[in-house]
Amino acid sequence: MSDVWSARAEAFRASEPHREGDDLDLAVEWCEPAEGVKALDVATGGGHVARRLREAGCEVVTVDPAPGMQPDVVGRAESLPFADGSFDVVVCRIAAHHFPDIAAAVEEMARVSQRLLVVDDLLFDGEGVEEAHRLRDPTHVRSYTEDEWRELLGTNGFEVEQVEVLGGRRLALEPWLDRVEVPADDRPRILELLGDASDGETVRMPLVVLQGRKSQS
Ligand SMILES: C[S@@+](CC[C@H](N)C(=O)[O-])C[C@H]1O[C@@H](n2cnc3c(N)ncnc32)[C@H](O)[C@@H]1O
Repeated sequence: MSDVWSARAEAFRASEPHREGDDLDLAVEWCEPAEGVKALDVATGGGHVARRLREAGCEVVTVDPAPGMQPDVVGRAESLPFADGSFDVVVCRIAAHHFPDIAAAVEEMARVSQRLLVVDDLLFDGEGVEEAHRLRDPTHVRSYTEDEWRELLGTNGFEVEQVEVLGGRRLALEPWLDRVEVPADDRPRILELLGDASDGETVRMPLVVLQGRKSQS
């Protein structure tokens, strides 16, 4: 998987919906950034969260399995090479739907955070949309509902303090397909699977952003 992602590095660095967005602003705000705050950006991709946190004064470490993404540490969310409580905040944006073992990944992210866990990811939008995602990009594993996310954070000792669903978010269809070089032959079937999630020009792409705080007990 990391070779696939290394080849995509430039596309994801340049991608507008990754470089900016309401979700990015919210995820950064919910990290409660300040001078000297230690942050871990898991699945950093083009490094957009890390850049914003650094601008806000945080000491940021980035981790990603794809060397081409040029992370500080090459590694997977399911097995983070850091001691318990190494970071004040752990953040993971638009990536968890690629993780083969979401339970292990959240357990690891929770283990290395001593205060906050901020997750921003695609919101589950039906089985047809899931199938469209997997046909577009076989590295897509699964998107989760808000309740599933609440459960994942809760069972790992984090109280969900804030949640926002960005339900009206839409992306331009062609750049979304081009970014991962979908062959022309697959495109009609993807459109069919998307159903009412696409109007032929744009595709509905809701996100859920959660802020969890480590429980005191
Ligand atoms: C869409 S990009 C991430 C976007 C980025 N966080 C941002 O804000 O722009 C998805 C990233 O997940 C990474 N990834 C895939 N599987 C992973 C895993 N098991 N653990 C950690 N990262 C993974 C990929 O290498 C890729 O860089």
